[in-house]
Amino acid sequence: MKRISVIGSGTMGNGIAHTFAQFGYQVNLIDINNEALERAINTIEKNLGRQVSKGTITETQKTDTLKNITVFTDMQSGVANAELVVEAATENLDLKLKIFRDLDSFANPEAILASNTSSISITKIASVTNRGDKVIGMHFMNPVPVMKLVEVIRGYATSDETTTTVMELSKKLEKAPVEVNDYPGFVANRILMPMINEAIYTLYEHVAGVEEIDTVMKLGMAHPMGPLQLADFIGLDVCLAILRVLHDGFGNPKYAPCPLLVNMVAAGNKGIKSGEGFYNYAGGVKEAKVAAKFSI
Ligand SMILES: NC(=O)c1ccc[n+]([C@@H]2O[C@H](COP(=O)([O-])OP(=O)(O)OC[C@H]3O[C@@H](n4cnc5c(N)ncnc54)[C@H](O)[C@@H]3O)[C@@H](O)[C@H]2O)c1
Repeated sequence: MKRISVIGSGTMGNGIAHTFAQFGYQVNLIDINNEALERAINTIEKNLGRQVSKGTITETQKTDTLKNITVFTDMQSGVANAELVVEAATENLDLKLKIFRDLDSFANPEAILASNTSSISITKIASVTNRGDKVIGMHFMNPVPVMKLVEVIRGYATSDETTTTVMELSKKLEKAPVEVNDYPGFVANRILMPMINEAIYTLYEHVAGVEEIDTVMKLGMAHPMGPLQLADFIGLDVCLAILRVLHDGFGNPKYAPCPLLVNMVAAGNKGIKSGEGFYNYAGGVKEAKVAAKFSI
């Protein structure tokens, strides 16, 4: 396998394109407009520069990696020759179903169609194509060039052959693939999101403050980052959306999002991306914000 198309050039898409290109694959990177693609190439260049200064790649590898990436705004031409398509567009069910319907008609019938979705059912995505056996989840972690895990998600119809191909391919990117079945939240978010939700409940019920909760988990459990800070990094809106997928998918009240999280998202406090979440990021300084006005 040599030719990979990546759909969506945002946070994840540019990291996925960077990683495949660094390992010698020909990558077509597709987004809806040139501005997004320009931003993505700048980000990739900057991140490759960081790898050069750390000595993990050479200047020649940086140049070769950039040469391996071609950008497209037209999906049909961008996926025409692909052996694998990795979709990393915005997390929205209708959008993903439309993209996979189109991919099924535009891509070579032999091509594997993968989604990097954090929470949408791979089985559901596969159901709008005529190649359910070739549809699979390839859930990279952020930042993609650094994080080792790839959660490889088998939909109901995904074949053994497709799964083996994607597992082997992930190893060629020097990643550690883990095979999981398609149920809400897969493994990563099914475990992570309830922990984050419980941390928010702990704050909501005044058991401890923001920094105290994060310190307990960092120093007591050796987590590199506390759960509230991690929620700010992921985006509180994203955390809420994934909790809703778990809650709806399992019909189990244990996944109900904490009302404090719901209130913070409704108020526009989405974490780093909005400048305020459990911490305040104004002026580049991270200060714990006591979300008391929202709690009971
Ligand atoms: N951000 C994370 O930490 C993270 C981690 C794992 C998985 N994911 C998943 O990865 C996917 C992408 O997330 P992200 O954080 O990179 O989002 P993002 O908003 O940074 O980027 C999404 C990109 O998709 C583009 N896009 C939208 N519609 C498109 C279309 N029809 N064709 C081509 N491009 C289109 C947008 O213009 C944007 O550039 C989502 O499914 C998300 O759940 C995100």
